[in-house]
Amino acid sequence: MIELAPRELASDWLAGVESTPALVFDPAICQHQWAVLSDALPGVRLYYAVKSNPYHDLLQTMADLHAHFDVASAAEIRMLEQVGVSSSRMIHTHPIKTETEIERAVAAGVTTFVVDNVDELWKLIPYRHQIRVMLRLAFIAPDAPIDLSKKFGAPPQDALSILDVANDSGVRVDGLCFHVGSQAGSASTHATALEWCLDLCEQIKAEGLPEITRIDLGGGFPAHYLNEPVDLMAFCAPIRSVLARVPESIEVMAEPGRVISAPSMALVCRVIGRAKRGDAWWFYLDDGVYGAQSGRLFDGMQYRMTVYTSATDRASCVFAGPTCDSVDELGRFPEFPVLNMNDIVVLHEMGAYTLASATHFNGIAPPQVVTRALPDLTRDVGTHA
Ligand SMILES: Cc1ncc(COP(=O)(O)O)c(C=O)c1O
Repeated sequence: MIELAPRELASDWLAGVESTPALVFDPAICQHQWAVLSDALPGVRLYYAVKSNPYHDLLQTMADLHAHFDVASAAEIRMLEQVGVSSSRMIHTHPIKTETEIERAVAAGVTTFVVDNVDELWKLIPYRHQIRVMLRLAFIAPDAPIDLSKKFGAPPQDALSILDVANDSGVRVDGLCFHVGSQAGSASTHATALEWCLDLCEQIKAEGLPEITRIDLGGGFPAHYLNEPVDLMAFCAPIRSVLARVPESIEVMAEPGRVISAPSMALVCRVIGRAKRGDAWWFYLDDGVYGAQSGRLFDGMQYRMTVYTSATDRASCVFAGPTCDSVDELGRFPEFPVLNMNDIVVLHEMGAYTLASATHFNGIAPPQVVTRALPDLTRDVGTHA
């Protein structure tokens, strides 16, 4: 969805921004998201997934909330140490890691790791007296556009045999985890996977294998984007109904990323070039798919935009990013105002998997990040393009 607003109202977005492109980070929004998700998942320990956005001020905000953290590498552990987070508040959830990564994470004091196959289990044997492990199982939400169970996760029916091998290896596997896919459309797969894991816990007990004491629901909690605003309390209702079945001996955890980071940042871009090519106007922004908008390619994402312009003429148009690559295209619109140079385009919910994967392709730097309150949008929105 694209909203149009008068060009002069863009000044609120540009306050404190030295140059565009810029991501504006509002700590109050991730505090709010954390509080709402915590209420929606009572008794569930939340680990913020650093991979979704490792911006220093965001990590500091989460650290100040005494959050726990999900990390995927020694570099993420270091970033957390820099904001004063103790390794006792971190879990390492990457199912496939190098021996060096494991060595560094153990040396930093991380004690929880994840495996989804026996070869990964072997790598952990040298540390078996220091660590605990969770077995990742593949459950796929059909309504999640980003599948994270193709690449990772043991088939659930293989769980018992892997746990059997783990038991013989001396590595303590006391947890089950999954990730149903990012930006899930509902929590029904979280709920059915949790139920499946609870049934598996019974079978594990019956087999005389070490008891499961932790079940990790992963991420997948959605952000708004082009959809209706997300009511997290309603979204999590199916999970809450299964939580009632979880025995006290099992701790339930989750690893939210996108739902916390996405709404906390907006991307402020500028029209840096324009050209009429055939019947269409091309507008070149100073950020594109090699910058903060890689989600368009990687995740099939589309972002809510507010365009600040005084343009009135309309034509067919194409938005493109600033690099020399023709894949760096951002959207085509059959009827759109013919923008002027330096018009401002703001993209919303741009905190997740944006800065984290931005490149320096063509020598063009990723957006700078500015920490301050996001302007109130309700005032700006005029017409819809
Ligand atoms: C292991 C793991 N945990 C948590 C997350 C965060 O997921 P989301 O951003 O969908 O909440 C991811 C995302 O890739 C992941 O791979």
